[in-house]
Amino acid sequence: MSGLPAPRGPLSAAVLALLTTGPPGAGRPLAAPGSLAEPWGEDHQLALHLCYELHDRGLPGVSDLWEWDPELLRFRQELERPFLAAVRAEAEPVPPLREALEALLTEPPDGTGPSHFLLAEGERRHAREYLVHRSVYHLKEADPQLWILPRIQGPAQAVLTAILYDEYGAGRPERAHALLFARMMTAFDLDPGYGHYLDLVPAPTLAVVNLMTLLGLHRALRGAAVGHFATVEITSSPGSARLAAALERLGGGPDGTLFYREHIEADAVHEQLVRRGVIEELVAAEPEFARDVAFGTAAAGVVDGRFADRLLDRWRAGRTSLRSPLPDDPV
Ligand SMILES: [Fe+2]
Ligand SMILES: [Fe+2]
Repeated sequence: MSGLPAPRGPLSAAVLALLTTGPPGAGRPLAAPGSLAEPWGEDHQLALHLCYELHDRGLPGVSDLWEWDPELLRFRQELERPFLAAVRAEAEPVPPLREALEALLTEPPDGTGPSHFLLAEGERRHAREYLVHRSVYHLKEADPQLWILPRIQGPAQAVLTAILYDEYGAGRPERAHALLFARMMTAFDLDPGYGHYLDLVPAPTLAVVNLMTLLGLHRALRGAAVGHFATVEITSSPGSARLAAALERLGGGPDGTLFYREHIEADAVHEQLVRRGVIEELVAAEPEFARDVAFGTAAAGVVDGRFADRLLDRWRAGRTSLRSPLPDDPV
């Protein structure tokens, strides 16, 4: 990221103002946060994203000491509460775990998500926008899930570690999925710099990644974090096949399709591992986790559904799905 993003309202402005006052304790206290009534909104999601980045890559020009600043953590909690409540409200009624997993395994024959759009009628500009949205997560792929590891034990921990090892290239740095994604961005004439497109990325995209981090950072939500990750892994393989085909059709070439080609096979294996080796083991050891895991899958569906709606609504209307078009991609 070359600089800090522009604020999108009073909440993100308050966070940015605080972080740029200097190290913790050097500045004024955080102003009253303003309205928390729109947890899906641009301002709320960006504010949360900024708080979470302090735990991951940090923010340009911002002291790392902010990560554990009590006042900022209190503010973060005020942002998390209504967001999680909104996700819960939309996730209800959460089906029993067995039903939820079975539903994930059966792809509807008449699927309509962004990967279907890209394959059937997408143009190069749609593909480039899709990569920009997804870059928020894939350029740090699996970092939010690493938080789960110390929070589960035994066989489930061992198998989850094996899956995550693959996400980081299984001992071959050049095969790390984040790096494969960066190569794909370059192949589509996009800047693979971390956070480069943050100002263009809308709230539904940030919400997808914010939910992962929220679940990962809270021990109390570890069951939901596992359910969320399982959803990503279980649904990834067929979606990746469509995306690889779509990007190839749109001129992707070997580098421009590698990330998704890699995921067709990798996630077919991960799907098995996460169901049998992580979820079944976790629930066998602590049956009360079944509800939480099921909630995690439902929660993933909520944010992914909102993300898909944003892209498809805009694309079908002939508009950009980003907050403004890519500079070199007039719509
Ligand atoms: Fe991956
Ligand atoms: Fe995977």
